[in-house]
Formats: sequence, structure tokens, C-alpha cells
Amino acid sequence: MKQVLAIFLILTTIGSIKLNAQTKGKVKKTVKTEVVSALVLANGQKVYNQYCLSCHMADGGGVQNMNPPLIKTTYVLGDKTRLIKIALNGLAEEIEIDGEVYTNVMPSHGFLKDQEIADVLTFVRNSFGNKASAIKVSEVKAARAEKK
Ligand code: HEC
Repeated sequence: MKQVLAIFLILTTIGSIKLNAQTKGKVKKTVKTEVVSALVLANGQKVYNQYCLSCHMADGGGVQNMNPPLIKTTYVLGDKTRLIKIALNGLAEEIEIDGEVYTNVMPSHGFLKDQEIADVLTFVRNSFGNKASAIKVSEVKAARAEKK
């Protein structure tokens, strides 16, 4: 009886060690991805506060009749290349968002580094109630290389 108990104990110990290793691996992985995106978001917010906030406001709500909101618009959540090009080249066309027409000109921000553009757009796409995939530096590079 003692022997059976001993074997049982050994087996459960091995089992729990294995399980422990598995969960540890998983936890590590999750923490790592969260840290990376938190850093990107923090960097993106810095760029936003410096270059976008004055027009689009801290809450992304914009200014009525002047600067459009960045909340769940098709520009923010839609085609990545179109969004990147707005940041790079600015925008000067009549657009309608939530029934409001905007005609002011958005200046180009092509002077920002690819990393800064990627970070700020990733921040915008994941703030103000938005939820969308990150913008990669390689995608900014590609959009910059394309004709305007
Ligand atoms: C000087 C004011 C100003 C600044 C600074 C500015 N924008 Fe804009 N933005 C505008 C205006 C005005 C429009 C609308 C342009 C039009 O109608 O052609 C616009 C349009 C947009 C749009 C598309 C429409 C929408 O609301 O979804 C996006 C996206 C955008 N801006 C993001 C940014 C980001 C990101 C930054 C910072 C890197 C930035 N803007 C800086 C004024 C500004």
C-alpha cells in the first residue's frame, strides 16, 4: 500500500511540474506582447500629443466644423494605406463624417519618422473607443515609397 501511495505521489508531482512549466511559458508570452504594445501606445501618445492633439483634441473628438473626430471613422479603422497617406501627405478634400462636412486642410506630417507614424496611427486605432490592428513600420515605408 505504501509503495502504491509513493508512486502516486511521484506521478502527481511530475504532472504538476509539467503543468507549471506550461502555464509559466504561456504567462511569459502574454506579458511580453502586452509590454511591447504598451510601449508602442505610450510612444504613439507622445507623438499624438505633440502633433495631432491641437486639432483633433485629447479625446479624439475634433472640433466641430473645423477638424474631424478620429472616433470610429472609416479613415481611422479602414484601409491602412489610405490612413498612412493622410498622416504622410495631409488631406485637402471635402469629407463628411457623422453628417458633418469638413473642408479645412490637414497639413502633411511626412517629416515624422516611419516609426513615429506607425506608433501614432497604432495609438489612434486603439484609443478613443477605436479597436484595430497595429500599423507596422514596413507598411509606412511602403506607403511612403508609393506615389502620392
Ligand atoms: C492643423 C490641424 C491638424 C493637425 C495638426 C492634424 N490634423 Fe488630421 N485632420 C485635420 C483636418 C482639417 C482634417 C480634414 C481634412 C479634409 O477635410 O480634407 C483632418 C483629417 C484627418 C483624418 C481623416 C478624417 C478622420 O477624421 O478620420 C485622420 C485619420 C487624421 N486627420 C489624423 C491625424 C493625425 C494622426 C495627426 C497627427 C499626426 C493629425 N491628423 C494632425 C486637421 C489636422
